[in-house]
Amino acid sequence: MDHREAGRYWNGNADAWTLLARQGYDVYRDYLNTPAFFRMLPEVAGLRGLDLGCGEGYNTRELARRGAKMTAVDIAPTFVRHAVQAERDAPLDIAYAVASAVELPFPAQAFDFATGSMSFMDIPETDLVLAEAHRVLKPGGFLQFSISHPCLDTPHRRNLRDASGRSYAVEVGDYFRRLDGEILEWLFTAAPEEARRGLPKFRMPRFTRTVSEWLNLLLAAGFVLERVEEPRPDDETVARRPDLQDAQVVAYFLHVRARKP
Ligand SMILES: C[S@@+](CC[C@H](N)C(=O)[O-])C[C@H]1O[C@@H](n2cnc3c(N)ncnc32)[C@H](O)[C@@H]1O
Repeated sequence: MDHREAGRYWNGNADAWTLLARQGYDVYRDYLNTPAFFRMLPEVAGLRGLDLGCGEGYNTRELARRGAKMTAVDIAPTFVRHAVQAERDAPLDIAYAVASAVELPFPAQAFDFATGSMSFMDIPETDLVLAEAHRVLKPGGFLQFSISHPCLDTPHRRNLRDASGRSYAVEVGDYFRRLDGEILEWLFTAAPEEARRGLPKFRMPRFTRTVSEWLNLLLAAGFVLERVEEPRPDDETVARRPDLQDAQVVAYFLHVRARKP
């Protein structure tokens, strides 16, 4: 499967995803990934930034609120339509475009930084995404992205829970088997039955790379690795959002920052 076909699946997910995410059901994003991503992010005020795979624009808006001059792209026109509507409703001077991260419609060295929040693992041409990010960055610019942790988001995965429902381990397997577009059907687990009613399940094509593949592709693209994090919710967050408890047991996400020399 190539990025265009994967993009069509994402476009099919975009209405339900936006609806549920804006009702607060993307809890791993809102309470874990995004806070950790912004703790790790260098100062961006006054910088020109590009958000790759922006979805409905949640993280792009947060970047703009921190003073960055943001451009954002997504391959799915429906996601971009929702992001543009939010920009019209409450302007943050963000420029959105429908484009694939694999073939960016921007000249070389146009941006001070680029981000990708939970989008790079959804694009089969990992090498081209990283090459494009590298091309559009100015020398000295950084790329920061989050992905599902390659060691834990494996083709085989089973959450092991005790009698009270508390997660105590995650069984993983088939780490080295490369998924190339196998479809996973799901909805945000935090969304109650009444919120899900009438909505189609997300149909998400999966592409897996090992940790060494990710890091070696990043280096091959010309980046220098700068920082890596594996976010974990603290006890206070889990007390507020018990559905995040399983993210204390293993690292679900991997956050990486790299710099163009
Ligand atoms: C898991 S969602 C994350 C969205 C958003 N960054 C967030 O954190 O809410 C993955 C996003 O990547 C987008 N995407 C997938 N393939 C893409 C590609 N080739 N170029 C740009 N965006 C892509 C999807 O349309 C989707 O919006």
